[in-house]
Amino acid sequence: MKQIEGEDYGEINNNNQSIDVLVKTRYKQLVEKGSYEIGVDPNINPDLPPTWFDKQRFIRSQKTAEKYSLSLKFASFCGLLLGIQIPTFLEPLLVTGHHENVAKLFKRYLETSIKVSSWYTSDPFDESSASYKSLRVVRSMHKSIYKLMNNLTDRQSGRDRLWVSQFQMALTQAGFFGLLILYSKDCGAHGITDDELEDIIYLWRVLGYLNGIQDKYNLCSGGLKETQAYLLHINKQFIEPQINPIPAHPYPIGHQVAQGISDAFRPMQPNIRYHVYLTYWYNIIGIPLPPTFDLTWFHQILLVLMKFTFQKLLGFRLIYNFLNWRTKQRLIWAEKNCSQIEKRLADQYNDKLFKPSSCPFSVTLDSLTHHVVTPHEIDNQQLDDNHNDPLLKSK
Ligand code: HEM
Repeated sequence: MKQIEGEDYGEINNNNQSIDVLVKTRYKQLVEKGSYEIGVDPNINPDLPPTWFDKQRFIRSQKTAEKYSLSLKFASFCGLLLGIQIPTFLEPLLVTGHHENVAKLFKRYLETSIKVSSWYTSDPFDESSASYKSLRVVRSMHKSIYKLMNNLTDRQSGRDRLWVSQFQMALTQAGFFGLLILYSKDCGAHGITDDELEDIIYLWRVLGYLNGIQDKYNLCSGGLKETQAYLLHINKQFIEPQINPIPAHPYPIGHQVAQGISDAFRPMQPNIRYHVYLTYWYNIIGIPLPPTFDLTWFHQILLVLMKFTFQKLLGFRLIYNFLNWRTKQRLIWAEKNCSQIEKRLADQYNDKLFKPSSCPFSVTLDSLTHHVVTPHEIDNQQLDDNHNDPLLKSK
């Protein structure tokens, strides 16, 4: 089994284990221990590279990310549309108010895109770089939301499953690059080699570390085969059951916010339609869609165009480079015209407001291994004073 040099799996390092057993053990450890530990680990000093850091390899990984930048951006965007449908990720975001409407979603995810792009291009250990600065801003945002959510629900590190835990950080990490590693051709990265995929994993291993993820929980601590198996396992165990719309979406607000993000990015990418993107990915992943999820003829044309572009056209490097360049130009344009776009979106979608479907603290994290209870279900079970969460302070 090929593995990245110098990894530290803590208790689970055993090269004799099959990949299957290894990823199950890693996931079990992440759920059973990582969900009790603070997401931004205070023992990680982002000024100091980890012992396994290899500067040349990191630079090479950034070059690979640059070469496949269009595919990486597409994978992150689509990973976001899938992950945001899940309460464990969306509830903290709804609490800060930055996800309240389509205009705010545009600003929030434009900022995210700018920050993450800087992580792909500049030196995170150089104090004057954009990457160094934005990583500190993001770490402090995560520390604040950790404090807010866990104080309000009286959760303590080591005693309770936490909001913004190591578990949630590692799964969010997957959202940024997972689809590219599992379905590279569907992301348009046709010629990408195994070594280049390992570069993307290495890059995110370093970025995971800098965001405060411990090595033993870092999703990218293994080689390509192991990471692919781990990502598939996480999808089957955690993601798919929570985004399956049959018989009904388990968390409707998640669906609405994902649609809101698609609407928010249409000024930058006019072909984005939520139903089309969802159909594209649900067909690839193998999640059934309900018969009511009908595409209009216009959507069907967009779906054919999308398949043709990503699964065929982007196989031509010249076309890839052109679309890569155009996507970057659009990002620069959006940054320059951010306020006007925001204003336009605010007028256009003034009737869309995203609020938690009930008390944001009513999502219990206590049954994480099997199933996350959503506000939707809790509503149906008639809430008690503590909103069904024994750790929630009764007001
Ligand atoms: C490796 C994992 C993660 C990465 C790379 C990441 C990335 C980011 C980035 C780039 C920002 C800055 C956005 C901006 O400038 O507006 C941000 C902010 C934020 N993130 Fe994360 N994030 C991760 C995990 C999480 C998790 C697990 C949660 C909670 C479940 C979370 C919740 C937030 C919140 C609440 C903000 C503040 C902005 C807002 O209210 O939307 N993040 N994150």
